[in-house]
Amino acid sequence: MAKAEQIKALIRCHAEGDDARFYAVAMQVAAQAARTGHGNFAGELRDLVDKAKAESKAAATHARRPIALAEPRGELAGLLTVTYPKTRIADMALSEALHDRLDRVIREQRQRERLRSHGFAPLRKLLLIGPPGTGKTMTASALSGEMGLPLFTIQLDGLITKFMGETAAKLRLVFEAIANTRGVYLFDEFDALGSERGSGSDVGEIRRVLNSFLQFLEQDDSESLVIGATNHVGLLDRALFRRFDGVFEYDLPSPDIAAEVMQARLGLLDTSGIDWAEAAKASEGLSHADLTRACEQAAKDALLNDTTVLETGGLVTALGERRAMRP
Ligand SMILES: Nc1ncnc2c1ncn2[C@@H]1O[C@H](COP(=O)(O)OP(=O)(O)O)[C@@H](O)[C@H]1O
Ligand SMILES: [Mg+2]
Repeated sequence: MAKAEQIKALIRCHAEGDDARFYAVAMQVAAQAARTGHGNFAGELRDLVDKAKAESKAAATHARRPIALAEPRGELAGLLTVTYPKTRIADMALSEALHDRLDRVIREQRQRERLRSHGFAPLRKLLLIGPPGTGKTMTASALSGEMGLPLFTIQLDGLITKFMGETAAKLRLVFEAIANTRGVYLFDEFDALGSERGSGSDVGEIRRVLNSFLQFLEQDDSESLVIGATNHVGLLDRALFRRFDGVFEYDLPSPDIAAEVMQARLGLLDTSGIDWAEAAKASEGLSHADLTRACEQAAKDALLNDTTVLETGGLVTALGERRAMRP
């Protein structure tokens, strides 16, 4: 029978008009029903999905409504890339502490007018720190998905090398956009501003950029969310920390979280024979991203071998191969 999580996912997908995901979850429920001996129900569900898909395809060719999208234009176009993520916080496997803190950001954002009317500012400048593949970029997507805001990504490395000598001026443009167009602005791979990384002539430029960034960040009192993400906390100037409303630390997954990441990625396969304790043990030291990739590998291996049943051995092997690929 459908699990509570699946019913919630169905309602969310419906509310968001995310048909593709809606049908995927429905098919997942059908597959589960079939496995647990509810063959008739599974068959009916599959027929319903097929019929609904065919009908909505026919309807889509009639009414195609244009959607207003914020697109960076002119000079800004080379500085920012925009996406419209559908990711949600529920898609992430998070420690309780991190989950609660992100939830708090969303709640303050949703009630920001109420907070402002009483003279308080909502949390909106966040610094995300932690090893690669632990969900920092995904968090920015999930926050924009939750709030229905566009995600503007600024790649600082690119900005500095491309506009050597005029990066600070470009940063001003970015902060003007932050003030003018409400969105989630992600300064990804923030490491570029870490003072030790550049060498020779770069150092002066990076210092200058860092200083202007701090100034702009300090002055910014907009309605946008500004997120910095970095893998190397050691390289970052401590002065940065104070300018953010909150510093969020990401870590490699605990065994429980690791199992959660794997189960989510393998949701459409039959994993009833998997020994999760053993899989979690084999996943030690791997990031969320590593686990996701390993599961994709194992799932594809199974499918290419003409089965939707995943064995512990196959998963453990894929996890081992991932570990061997780590630097
Ligand atoms: N907490 C998480 N829960 C579920 N999947 C995750 C999580 N963190 C990372 N992933 C998976 O790994 C991928 C890469 O993660 P990403 O957010 O880019 O890591 P980072 O920015 O910290 O290097 C994501 O797209 C997602 O598939
Ligand atoms: Mg990232």
